[in-house]
Amino acid sequence: MPMKTPVYETLASQLEFLLQGERDLIANAANTAALIYGTLPDLNWAGFYILRGGSSGKGELVVGPFQGNPACTRIALGRGVCGTAAQRRETLVVEDVHRFPGHIACDSASRSEIVVPILHAGQLIGVLDLDSPTLARFNAEDQAGLERLVAIFTGATDLKKGTGSQP
Ligand code: SME
Repeated sequence: MPMKTPVYETLASQLEFLLQGERDLIANAANTAALIYGTLPDLNWAGFYILRGGSSGKGELVVGPFQGNPACTRIALGRGVCGTAAQRRETLVVEDVHRFPGHIACDSASRSEIVVPILHAGQLIGVLDLDSPTLARFNAEDQAGLERLVAIFTGATDLKKGTGSQP
């Protein structure tokens, strides 16, 4: 079994248990960020950016619940790692953020990053973003593990149509 998989198996069970009985977006995002940040080694940021203003067609990502240092508040779709993953609606694993054109440096300590889009009923809700001070901290195992956690999060959370369109 690949090395990191058992950690994600445990995280998945813990997250299912943690989100049981609560469907609020902010509550569940906050607990998900805290669980990930407190469990996975070698992170300096873990949290959410939520799509806002989507109804105008010019949505932007606004920082949501997170753990780590204060972060950039708003990110336009298509900008940085978060905005690019959101626009493409696909997970981005960035081994060296200094080599990612347009990377937004919220914390100069960050060297690698993974961003998983959050989709619900065909709509973009936001992204889950993890940063690390270590080069190439994230790989395909992290991608699979975090995509599973995002699936648990979306299944356990009330993401009504328009969640991402609130001002
Ligand atoms: N580095 C991100 C910005 C968000 S922070 O890492 C928390 C990016 O390029 O989108």
